[in-house]
Amino acid sequence: MIVKNARLRNRAGLWQLRIVNGRFEQIAEQAALQPNTNDPAILDAEGKLLLPPFVEPHIHLDCVYTAGEPSWNQSGTLFEGIALWEKRKKTLTHEDVKTRAIKALRQQLSYGVQFVRSHVDVTDPTLTALRAMLEVRKEVRDFVELQLVAFPQDGILSFENGEQLLEESLKLGADCVGGIPHYEFTREYGVESVKKVMALACKYDKLVDIHCDEIDDGQSRFLETVAAEAFRLGIGERVTASHTVAMHYYNNAYAYKLFRLLKLAGMNFVACPTENVHLQGRFDPFPKRRGVTRVKELMENDINVCIAQDSIMDPWYPIGTGNPLRELDMCIHICQIMGYDEMLRSLDLVTDNGAKTMRVTDRYGIEEGKPANFILLDAESPFDVIKNLPPVLCSVRNGKVLMKKTPVKTEYCV
Ligand code: FE2
Repeated sequence: MIVKNARLRNRAGLWQLRIVNGRFEQIAEQAALQPNTNDPAILDAEGKLLLPPFVEPHIHLDCVYTAGEPSWNQSGTLFEGIALWEKRKKTLTHEDVKTRAIKALRQQLSYGVQFVRSHVDVTDPTLTALRAMLEVRKEVRDFVELQLVAFPQDGILSFENGEQLLEESLKLGADCVGGIPHYEFTREYGVESVKKVMALACKYDKLVDIHCDEIDDGQSRFLETVAAEAFRLGIGERVTASHTVAMHYYNNAYAYKLFRLLKLAGMNFVACPTENVHLQGRFDPFPKRRGVTRVKELMENDINVCIAQDSIMDPWYPIGTGNPLRELDMCIHICQIMGYDEMLRSLDLVTDNGAKTMRVTDRYGIEEGKPANFILLDAESPFDVIKNLPPVLCSVRNGKVLMKKTPVKTEYCV
């Protein structure tokens, strides 16, 4: 396949990309716009922007499309969400989980996502959701690379056999060890749970992704424990702290001290802008805190940070589409990432930074020799993408077209 008339990020002009055996063999500058041809081996980008695929580094696919079952979350709090999920979890079946997860992954594909990390609740003696998601991971591998996090929703030390279930999940094939220290019964349990997560990751050679400080409590400081452990063990690049909502509330003197450790640890962060701006601040009078972690400050300190959807229609978040550009739009507003250069750089939050978090950079990016994974957007520049949130017209993986979309045309009648 040859892709012609493509625009690339951070490179001026038009480009032609030759794909052989599913990889980019040659990426060369093109003198001028070449005329259309009907050759099926040629994909004419017509001057549109070609990017590496979007990355969704944090979603709960076992929970998608369960909003309203058995009832809707009326308070909008994370705690009512957990209570509702507790009830819905009892009715999970293997097919139920698979059907909903695959539906969401196909919807994500329509938005240009090809890399997904999903948390899966393993505080269930039957591990129904995990067993189903392990099958899903295999069944969808032609169109998406799916990583699974063994996520102890109800705690490791605060749930009966929590640690054993977590370890069993790793033996069954989960890619990452999860945790939820701020939700454990006590601070001491929380600290101990982080140490257990890290030890399991080292024992089974897995990645770590911890739901960390997702609470409107500036005293919730498990992030420092996660970072210190990651630094001590020298595994920071394999460790991700998700949400880190409380970091929004830390006083600036403490945050300054903390950032030194975060830089030393070299770990990754995932923020979930729509989810947390919806869930957080629910106990606040006015003014209400926004509840999204310090994305801009992490970027400024060259600490790897990416953003994610977290939920599509589940007990925590009643809507959602799986479109990373919707997250990006929300993020740059809430976190005030709207200086011109900042905006252009913010595309990293849904592309390269997510790939780094998922540790898939060896197979990610528009570079000669790498797998021909890319998307084509209905936009001519990164600024267009930020401003217009355009549709993804085409998604290609290993040189094979996975999805094509025809943009909506507006016909003015006045
Ligand atoms: Fe989450």
